[in-house]
Amino acid sequence: MQAIPTPKTPKFWQATQWVLDPLGYMNTNFSRFGDMFKAQVPSGSDEPWVLINNPKVLQYILTHDTGKEFTAPGEVNSLLAQVMGWQNLILLSGKQHQHRRRLVMPPFHGERLNVYGQVIRQITLDLLQQWPIDTTLDMRELMQKITMRVILQVVFGMHEGERYLQIEHLLHSRLSITASPITSAIIFLPWLQQDFGSWSPGHRFLEFAAQTDQLLFTEIQERRANLDSDRPDILSLLLAATDEEGKGLTDQDLRDELMALLAAGHDTTATALAWAIYWIHALPEVKEKLMAELDTMTNPQDPAEFLRLPYLAAVCNETLRIHPIAMVTFPRRVKVPLKLGGYTLEPGTLVVGSIHSLHQREDLFPNPKQFCPERFLQNQFSPYEYMPFGGGVRRCVGAALAQYELKIILGTMLTQFSFDLLNRKMVQPGRRGITSGPITPILIQKQGAQSQPKKPLQTV
Ligand code: HEM
Repeated sequence: MQAIPTPKTPKFWQATQWVLDPLGYMNTNFSRFGDMFKAQVPSGSDEPWVLINNPKVLQYILTHDTGKEFTAPGEVNSLLAQVMGWQNLILLSGKQHQHRRRLVMPPFHGERLNVYGQVIRQITLDLLQQWPIDTTLDMRELMQKITMRVILQVVFGMHEGERYLQIEHLLHSRLSITASPITSAIIFLPWLQQDFGSWSPGHRFLEFAAQTDQLLFTEIQERRANLDSDRPDILSLLLAATDEEGKGLTDQDLRDELMALLAAGHDTTATALAWAIYWIHALPEVKEKLMAELDTMTNPQDPAEFLRLPYLAAVCNETLRIHPIAMVTFPRRVKVPLKLGGYTLEPGTLVVGSIHSLHQREDLFPNPKQFCPERFLQNQFSPYEYMPFGGGVRRCVGAALAQYELKIILGTMLTQFSFDLLNRKMVQPGRRGITSGPITPILIQKQGAQSQPKKPLQTV
């Protein structure tokens, strides 16, 4: 068995490439080394990662990550603790993680999601109506507003009122600090988060954190004082939850979980939506087929109809194939010596799935740089060949919600208005915080005269 290959470039240079150009770093090294290589990149634990893009190896890891051969540790994600604290799904490990997942999962599943269909449609219509005709918007900004309101609804059961507007504004401002590859360095260099004065990024970072916490703690305390077990939102479920000894979650636990869900739950989906609108308008044949399918709907006012459209589903899948917003899975740790993919993995090693590089494999997705929804109509991919939401014990809890949002928001937008893409050059992906996104704005104009709503807007 040979040793896992590793780039010869110094650790500092690999770290710089990882922060500034993570997709380029993975493209170069996978094409040089094959399916696995040891990467010296900055992460929460300062240990190297073995990055993997082989579907069979990923399948083995993600179907054995419950403790014997691999674990799914939370503490190695410590870079995220600055924003969301330690007491949440992403940072918890083992039994505590399992227990928290059981608590948080139900509102994100099947039937329960139907409650949100009309809400998502209405939030989309409200924000679209506020967008004046013939003006241009950065698509990510609009989508971020929509998905923020959706997640506030799912998590708190509300998306209106002064406190919600303040939380929305603060989270938006904080996320915009890490919107570019250079400013994302603040995540990887914790010393930059210190307060060096009002001019420093750390000052803004800490100020937003303190203000957001104050609002979240106030909300938690008010809701604790007025418990309502009939409310279906996540905060109500968490407030009612107790462990085997009858102990409930503390305010700090609740704040950390809410923060994790808010942070993980809206920026990712917003970026995916912006990319979907981009490709639909960049490729006339895609738009034509999609509009023809949307025209077959008998009742576009019913969000459930969007869920039954195969081409719309294929467009959403292809968007997350070509731009998997989470470039990599969370790390898994090897527990016993194992032979996988022609290499020996030693106990203690951190292995990480490169979702980006998996989705760029020519053998799975011919012409991988081409946006081609048809590949999802003509082929079936295994959950380890196509995995925008990861897999195993840490598979994204919001996967069903995100897919639901994508279809309803896109369907609602396209059946109500027409839009023009103003970008004349291809928009490229790059780092956005710990995820990826368009590195230049996707500029969309809501069309004029003929862009009166094609169907009257209905309020629900
Ligand atoms: C397009 C949108 C989204 C993408 C691409 C995405 C992707 C991912 C990925 C790849 C993981 C790691 C899985 C693994 O390591 O195996 C993850 C975890 C997670 N996601 Fe998402 N996600 C999205 C939307 C959401 C939404 C809407 C929520 C809702 C609240 C959410 C909450 C979470 C949480 C809490 C985890 C950690 C789960 C755990 O550690 O047990 N995500 N997501």
